[in-house]
This record gives sequence, C-alpha cells and structure tokens, in this order.
Amino acid sequence: SASSDEKDLVIIGGGVAGYVAAIKAGQEGLNVTCIEKRGVLGGTCLNVGCIPSKSLLNNSHLYHQILHDTKNRGIEVGDVKLNLANLMKAKDSSVNGLTKGIEFLFKKNGVEYIKGEASFVNEHEIKVALNEGGETSVKGKNILIATGSEATPFPGLEIDEKRVITSTGALSLEKIPESMLVIGGGIIGLEMASVWSRLGTKVTVVEFLGQIGGPGMDTEVSKTIQKLLKKQGLEFKLNTKVLSGDASGEKVQLSVDSVKGGKEETLDAETVLVAIGRRPYTAGLGLENIGLETDERGRVIIDSEYRTKHPHIRSVGDVTFGPMLAHKAEEEAVAAIEHIKKGHGHVNYAAIPSVMYTHPEVAWVGQSEQDLKNQNIPYRVGTFPFSANSRAKTNLDTDGLVKMLADPETDRLLGVHIVGPNAGEMIAEGTLALEYGASSEDIARTCHAHPTLAEAFKEAAMATHGKAIHF
Ligand code: FAD
Ligand code: NAI
Repeated sequence: SASSDEKDLVIIGGGVAGYVAAIKAGQEGLNVTCIEKRGVLGGTCLNVGCIPSKSLLNNSHLYHQILHDTKNRGIEVGDVKLNLANLMKAKDSSVNGLTKGIEFLFKKNGVEYIKGEASFVNEHEIKVALNEGGETSVKGKNILIATGSEATPFPGLEIDEKRVITSTGALSLEKIPESMLVIGGGIIGLEMASVWSRLGTKVTVVEFLGQIGGPGMDTEVSKTIQKLLKKQGLEFKLNTKVLSGDASGEKVQLSVDSVKGGKEETLDAETVLVAIGRRPYTAGLGLENIGLETDERGRVIIDSEYRTKHPHIRSVGDVTFGPMLAHKAEEEAVAAIEHIKKGHGHVNYAAIPSVMYTHPEVAWVGQSEQDLKNQNIPYRVGTFPFSANSRAKTNLDTDGLVKMLADPETDRLLGVHIVGPNAGEMIAEGTLALEYGASSEDIARTCHAHPTLAEAFKEAAMATHGKAIHF
C-alpha cells in the first residue's frame, strides 16, 4: 500500500493491553489500527480470563451459600438445583456484553479494527491474514506489540480441554467432574478449584512450593486462606512436584513426589487442570523478520519507555515484563500512548494490586513481610481480624484479617495484605494510600463510615500506628 496509508499507530492484539491503547490513541487524535485474530476484542481477560472466571466464581458462590449458609440466617429454601448450562449462559452473556462494548468504544474513538493474524514483514510493515480469508498489509509510524500470553503446558500431558484442561477448559466444562487434580496452587488453580469444588467436584491441589497463592502472597495470609479453603473441602498437597502425567486410561493419572524426594505416589482423577503459570505469546508474529529477540522466558525485551530495540516498536501487557494482570496491562497501554504522543508516561510498579477472587477474597498491594525480611528492611505490623468488625459480624462473614506493614521510623505504608470479605474492593484504599505515600496514622485518622468492612482497614492502620479500638 502507498505510504499515505501509513498509520500513526498499528496495534497487534486486541486484549486489554491492545484495546486500551487503541482507545487512548483514538482519544489523543492518533490515526490507529488494531489487529486481532480471535474474532472478538478483549483478549484473554474478557473471553477466557478475568470476566468469565468471575462470573463462575460469583454464581458458584451464591449456589454454595444457598446450599450451606442460609439456615442460620433464618432463610429456609426448598429444593436447590444447579443448571450448569444456564450458569454457563449467564457467563457468556456477561462476556458478550463486554466484548461488544469494546467494539462500540472503537467506533466511538475512530479506531480501525482488522480481524486477522498479524506478522511483521519488516520494521514498518505488517501483513495480516484476514479471518474472512485473503490478506492485507498495514504500515505504521509506530507499532505496539500486545499479543499477550497463553497457558504454559505441562510436558507430556496433552491438553484436550475436556479431561486435561487449562483455565480455558475449566471455564466451560459441560458436566461437573466427580474429581479434579489441579497442578499448581497459584491464582488460576485456586479460583478454578473453588468454582468446581462448590459445584460438587472433589478437588485436590498439588503445589510445588510450601504455600499456596502463587508469587507475592504474604505467608500469613496464604496460611489463613489455605485453612479456609480446606474447610470448604479443597485438599492440598504442598511441597509436592508432579513428575509426569498419563491420560491414556479411564482416569487421568499423575505421578507425584515430595520436593525432597522419596515419597513417590500416583494420583488419579476424572479431570486434570494444568495451572502452572502463563507464558508470553509471540508465535507466528515474525519477530525474527525484524531481528527482535525475546528473553529466556519468551518475553519481548523493552526499555523503561516500552521501546524494543527499534524505538518506534513498543510492547506492553502479558507479552513483556511484569505481573500478568489486566490492570497492569491497562496502565502500561495508557503510558505507552502518552510516550508516543507526549514524550512521557508513567506506571508505578510498586503500587499494583493483586486480587484472588476466592471466598473470602485475598488482596494485597506493596511489599509482603517476606519481601521486607529478605531485603533487611525494618517494618512495623498492625493487624485487625474481621471477627471484630461489626459489619462482618452482621453479615455472618467474619473469616480473615487486614494486615498492614509500615516503616517504623517514618510510619510510611509499605504494604497491605487482606484476606476477608470484599478484600478485592478494599485493596483500592490501600493502593491509593501507597500511591500518595500515606502513613498508617494518615489512614487511622481518616473517618470511615460505620458499619462497614472498611473499618477493619482503618483499625489495622490504628494497630500499626498505635492501638485498635475494637480488638
Ligand atoms: P491478552 O489478553 O492475552 O490479549 C492478547 C490478544 O492478542 C489476544 O486476543 C490474541 O488473540 C491476540 N493476538 C496474539 N497474537 C496475535 C497476532 N499475531 N495477530 C493478531 N492478534 C494476535 N488478570 C486480572 O487482572 N484479574 C483477573 O481476575 C484475572 N483473571 C484471569 C483468569 C484467567 C483464567 C486467566 C487465564 C487470566 C486472568 N487474568 C486476570 C490475567 C489477564 O487475563 C491478563 O493479564 C490480560 O488478559 C493481559 O492482557 P494482554 O492484552 O496483554 O493479553
Ligand atoms: P502462578 O504463577 O500464579 O501459579 C502457578 C503455581 O504452580 C505456582 O505456585 C508454582 O509453584 C506451581 N507449579 C509450577 N509447576 C509445578 C509443578 N510441576 N508441580 C506443582 N506445582 C507447580 O500461575 P497461574 O495460577 O497459572 O496464573 C497465571 C497468571 O494469570 C498469573 O500471572 C496470574 O497473575 C494471572 N491470573 C490472575 C488472576 C487474578 O488476578 N485474579 C486470576 C487468574 C490468573
């Protein structure tokens, strides 16, 4: 195509990273094209990640609560039945509504959307194999690689998304398995284990490390949530590595051993969920055609302004460094567009919250106690249990605690770790406090409405700075 066709920006990938960058670029007056091969926008997060998982988590929790947690509230229910097909329909309708919404936002912001698979011809030209057949090519003054990630496979276990599944299969099983083995007790493992266990599956989670929750979760919090999940019926095998798998028989078998060795055994289940992490996705992108290398984990190498070694080609989201989280991808997308348009942009990587949407939820931001110990950074701890919070008591939902870490000299907040009802919403307050460099006293002296769960947050700050009132 002629050089007059050259776009200000071509984005490869219409996931959270790509679509947010596209909308922001449109708002900034850039002439922008977004190429997505999936056939729908929203990427992993909207189609097979954040959104469908939260739908299943929310509705399976309601079902489980109606079954097990109504009598003591004075509610008597009759025959409770699960309609799995309709549970899945409710999920699909949330997903469809949101992905259509992004198409609307593309139109509103003048973003051109090409459905097809992109690959580099050279540093300025991208060819697209169109989903509808045929090929086209686009040129960009700037290019953004936002191709995301995929589930890391377990060697020797072929994924069929029915018996041996990743999170994608776990979000759309057609019947409730009688048993499930989960390889990996990280966030995906625990969220999906929660869904299926609530619906009646006997779930065992096998985790290599001595604690669940994946990287970053505070050990005290991890121990607390493990106990609570165990009460809900999940079984855990920690410090255990999966050696190999075999799906040829009637049940899927895993051979496991303790990390130290000498405790080899065979486990079996109707379904095995592989949840050992995700890896950057660059297959078919033709990075070799433009001499771009990835690091040892497959990540696109960038500098602090998201530039690859070709300065007009940038990369953000799961395909590059940092935590694989939708809100991190979103922040980077906005910052990358600001770099292109204004020459500056910023993401505060020290204040990116993490949330695990189990019941109760787990959420944290900033440093954990282990992080601080490892760096020999002194800290003060304040905790407050939800069992002493009036709203949690009225809700009969009192498991968990808020834990705060602050600098003993300056009282500046260093980290917040919550396991408890609504932790995922409450962590926003901790994130804002960190972002503004608040002290625990700042939080302790901020009036919080009564009776709310957020008072547990305030009282944890009081405990960090001085003494809590109600505990
Ligand atoms: P992706 O969302 O993976 O999007 C990349 C897109 O690029 C894809 O749609 C892909 O089709 C497209 N693409 C790739 N190559 C090409 C090509 N050559 N041409 C055209 N298009 C291409 N994060 C949270 O913050 N909160 C959560 O609750 C949460 N839950 C999750 C639950 C699950 C089960 C999973 C798997 C993930 C979850 N995540 C969650 C992580 C979140 O989904 C990712 O961090 C986020 O999707 C990353 O966005 P991205 O745009 O970088 O990549
Ligand atoms: P993860 O990295 O969080 O956890 C994987 C776990 O598997 C680790 O604890 C690891 O020790 C364990 N493991 C690895 N190999 C093993 C083996 N052979 N045997 C036993 N255990 C083994 O990865 P996960 O859970 O797959 O999630 C992938 C990404 O998706 C994460 O980066 C996460 O941030 C993101 N995500 C975020 C969600 C959220 O924000 N709520 C929800 C779901 C996913």
